[in-house]
Amino acid sequence: MIGHAGEERLKEAFQSHLQETEVQAQRLEQLIAEVNEGDVDDKKDPIITALIGSGENIVSESDEGPVRDAGLIATAQKIEHYEIASYGSARDWARILGLNQDAEMLQKTLDEEKHADELLTSISQQTNRCGANRCSMIRSLSATHRFGNARIE
Ligand SMILES: [Fe+2]
Repeated sequence: MIGHAGEERLKEAFQSHLQETEVQAQRLEQLIAEVNEGDVDDKKDPIITALIGSGENIVSESDEGPVRDAGLIATAQKIEHYEIASYGSARDWARILGLNQDAEMLQKTLDEEKHADELLTSISQQTNRCGANRCSMIRSLSATHRFGNARIE
């Protein structure tokens, strides 16, 4: 999504969270290896795969600019909300099982996910306005064009 974002602040947010996600994945793999005695499963989550596919559709169906950025933010926030629900549940399960260090690690990841979501919300305030203005402009231009053609005919 980084390569398809137009706004610099959005690119930076995606890049920063990608680096954060790599650390989160290492933490999670370590936790799973400890709990599963070294056995880490590498299956992809079908929900995340579907959400990424949704983002790819947005890219293929839009041009670079605020409308695409607004769609990419919405997709990224769907992923963040799914991760927040997943890490929140995992943290609670770790607490119930008395795995306090694991619960703390999951809480750290959960906090990072919430921060990423809040940052995207902040960026979306301007992006959505720009995207809406662009859509209004396109509708106006389109209506003007249709009106112009009607006058010519
Ligand atoms: Fe995330």
